[in-house]
Amino acid sequence: MPSILMDVDTGIDDALALVYLLSRPEVQVRAITCTAGNVGARQVALNNLALLELCGRQGIEVAIGAEVPLEIPLVTTEETHGPQGMGYAELPPPAQQVSPRHAVDVWVEEARARPGELTGLITGPLTNFALALRREPGLPRLLKGLVIMGGSFNYQGNTTPTAEWNVSVDPHAAKEVFAAYRGLPEDKLPLVCALETTERIELRPEHLRRLGEAAGAGPELVLPGQPDGQLSASGNPLVAALSDAVRFYLEFHRHHGQGYVAHMHDAFAACAAVERTPFATRLATVDVETDSPLLVGTTVADFRGLWGLPPNARIVSGNDPGHCFDELISSVGALARGLGGQ
Ligand code: BDR
Ligand code: CA
Repeated sequence: MPSILMDVDTGIDDALALVYLLSRPEVQVRAITCTAGNVGARQVALNNLALLELCGRQGIEVAIGAEVPLEIPLVTTEETHGPQGMGYAELPPPAQQVSPRHAVDVWVEEARARPGELTGLITGPLTNFALALRREPGLPRLLKGLVIMGGSFNYQGNTTPTAEWNVSVDPHAAKEVFAAYRGLPEDKLPLVCALETTERIELRPEHLRRLGEAAGAGPELVLPGQPDGQLSASGNPLVAALSDAVRFYLEFHRHHGQGYVAHMHDAFAACAAVERTPFATRLATVDVETDSPLLVGTTVADFRGLWGLPPNARIVSGNDPGHCFDELISSVGALARGLGGQ
C-alpha cells in the first residue's frame, strides 16, 4: 500500500492532486504539511482541511510549516489560484483543527518512525523539506522515495522567463534539497516533474464534462463562452468544488494567452508518485541559481556529466497526458459518485 507524505501549497492543481490521492483506495495519505506559496501557509492548511472534509476524510493530520521562504520575502499568487487558493470554490470552514506539530517535525518524526516506507510528494516550494533535511540529513535514505513538482529544464519558465513557480518562491530551499541528494543511490534520487512535462497535462472543458459524467452527476459544462466566474450547478459537491476551482485556473491561462486550458502540474506528480501513469526519466545533476538577478530561481540540469558531479535527480522526460487524465477522471469521478449528490 503506497504511503504518502505530502507537502503542498494548495493551490488548484495541488487540490486535484490531493483529491486524487484520497480517491485511491490503495493509497494511504499519512499526513499533509503546508508551505506558503500559491497562498499563505495558514490558508493552505484551511484548504486542505476543507478538502479532506469534502471527501469525507477527517482524521488525516494537516500541519503548518514555514510561513516564509528561507532567505527571501514571500510572494504569493492569488491571481493564479484565487483569493483563497481554490479559484472560485468556497468550501465550508473545516471542523478539524490544524495539527499542533510543526511540518518539519512531521517529516522527521514520520520518516524516522517508518524507515523505507514513506514516499514524499512535494507540490509547493521546498522550504519545509529543506528545513527537515537540516534537522535530519538522513531523510533521503529514510524515505522510500521523493517526488517533486518543480523546475523547468531547457524550457520556458512560468514565473520568470527561465524559472518555475515552486523553485522561484524559494530558490535557496530548492538548491539545498538538490545538494542533499548528490551521491545517493539512483532509487533514492528525487523524481522531478518539471514544466516541460507538467505543462503537457493540459486540462480542457472536455475533461470536466467527463468528470461530471464519471461522478454520475451529468456532464459538467465549463465552457469558454460562459461568463467569467459562473458557478457550477452540479448537485455533486465534489464535482462542483473542483469545477469552480478549475474554472478560475482556465480563465487565468486564457488571460495569459495560453488558451482555455489549465496545467495540472501537481496532479501529474501525484499520479507519478503512486505509479499509476507511465513516464520516462533521465538522470541528471541539478543545481539552482540563487544569486543572479536575471536568472534567480532557474534550474539547470547537467545531463552529460560536464560538471563532473554525480546525478542527484531523475527528471521526468516523457509522460502520457491522455492516460493521466483517464486515471484522474475515473478515480476522482468514482470518489465523487460515492460521496453522492446528483
Ligand atoms: C507549480 O506552481 C504552482 O502555482 C502550482 O500549484 C504548481 O505546483 C507550477 O509551476
Ligand atoms: Ca502547487
